[in-house]
Amino acid sequence: MYLGLDLGTSGLRTVLADASGQILASEEAHYDVSHLHSGWSEQDPQEWINACEKTITALRKSHPKELAALKGIGISGHMHGATLVDASGEVMRPCMLWNDTRSAKEAAEFDATEGFREISGNIVFPGFTAPKVAWVANNEPEVFAKIHKVLLPKDYLRYWLTGEYFGDMSDAAGTSWFDVGARDWSDELLAKSGMRRDQMPDLVEGSAPAGMLRAALASDWGIEGPVVCVGGGGDNAVAACGVGCFSEGDGFVSLGTSGVLLAAKDRFSPKPESAVHTFCHAIPDTWYQMGVILAATDCMNWLAKTLGSKPAELSAQLGDTISGPGSIQFLPYLSGERTPHNDSTIRASFIGLSVGTTHADLTQAVMEGVAFALRDNLEALKSTGTDLKRVLAIGGGSASPYWVEMLATVLDMPIDLPEAGDFGAALGAARLAIVGDTGAAPKDIMTGPKVAKTVNPRKELSAAYNEAYETYRALYPAIKAITK
Ligand code: XUL
Repeated sequence: MYLGLDLGTSGLRTVLADASGQILASEEAHYDVSHLHSGWSEQDPQEWINACEKTITALRKSHPKELAALKGIGISGHMHGATLVDASGEVMRPCMLWNDTRSAKEAAEFDATEGFREISGNIVFPGFTAPKVAWVANNEPEVFAKIHKVLLPKDYLRYWLTGEYFGDMSDAAGTSWFDVGARDWSDELLAKSGMRRDQMPDLVEGSAPAGMLRAALASDWGIEGPVVCVGGGGDNAVAACGVGCFSEGDGFVSLGTSGVLLAAKDRFSPKPESAVHTFCHAIPDTWYQMGVILAATDCMNWLAKTLGSKPAELSAQLGDTISGPGSIQFLPYLSGERTPHNDSTIRASFIGLSVGTTHADLTQAVMEGVAFALRDNLEALKSTGTDLKRVLAIGGGSASPYWVEMLATVLDMPIDLPEAGDFGAALGAARLAIVGDTGAAPKDIMTGPKVAKTVNPRKELSAAYNEAYETYRALYPAIKAITK
């Protein structure tokens, strides 16, 4: 038996799977993100541990025998977070998350420094790990002075599980300290930010061993045999393992807290100036490219909270099928934006409100704004030579037929919806553990899901959505020009 843990932004999901990757049970526990100031986004790592314990307690109750036969654990996690631990392994401050953009100044400085883009293959975005640690150096020098290890969120969770410091290539790729082509820490980039290799965990590939489950936890959980924890990976790479996306031409669109349009790559071919991310996959000798928008379902969550409603209630008002763009535009930059603008200071806007504007109109505008932002990502990917012909849709937002049909039309490509529940990264994590423990070939375990439905673009509406997209594209520079 194997566990796949997905440490997400809003909660942790744990799946229990057998050696074929069949999911037997799934448990979730939730936690919050704190936004103390505009652009700040933090979590207390203890919450991840509490959530993990909660899911395991539930699995112990429902599947005690299966859990007792546990052989391996894989972990996926939200990327880029800086979890800073001191020499005794204590966390020194809340983890600054991937959508925390307070380190814009430090990021711009690194980004302008020779070597960062060339070696890491990426823009140094403010949400990446290196500039955040530089912010700590500038603002909390007493914390910076005591940094023993910088751990990505899932690597901290694994440290709690195993007592050992390890990381993996796919997550390390998002730190700006990593030579993404060579799949190793870059001593040059570390030195340029006042850090040392010994402050980083040792790295393994996603399915390679990265410590054993601590004896005390194993006995608490009623587990007999030794349990290996594998390297795991950053959430998008691991979700790609969960949906069998690792060959050139494979891709997915993820409507999660963030929005992602991802394409698997069989070689390292970065183009940082496009603001496309080029990272290591969780499988050896494989990479991927993606456009990232910082707020996808986050926009729907914000709207629902603001209107005193629920995202599902709001989207239900639109029905299941699109009938053309509305007259209101929404720029989804609640947390700034990565692809294509690399702009941490821009904020969201509604344009075109009237006294007659309804909740349904606002909801439609928000969904359209997110779809247009993902179209921007598609154009950015195309500019690197990456050509996606169809994609799979994953993430919470893909439960809305209306949103998926809109996306298919705006991206002008068929979108496949997987049949079984959306286990993405949690399943991918369990699959990495299976490959690591059994030695099975990734392609035999990491198969694509059965497709329940293919949603085709509504060609008769393409011209109308293209026109609305052109208006959307004109709005960013206009708003930017008047933003301080
Ligand atoms: C990727 C990114 C997000 C987070 C949270 O670069 O920042 O996708 O991993 O999901």
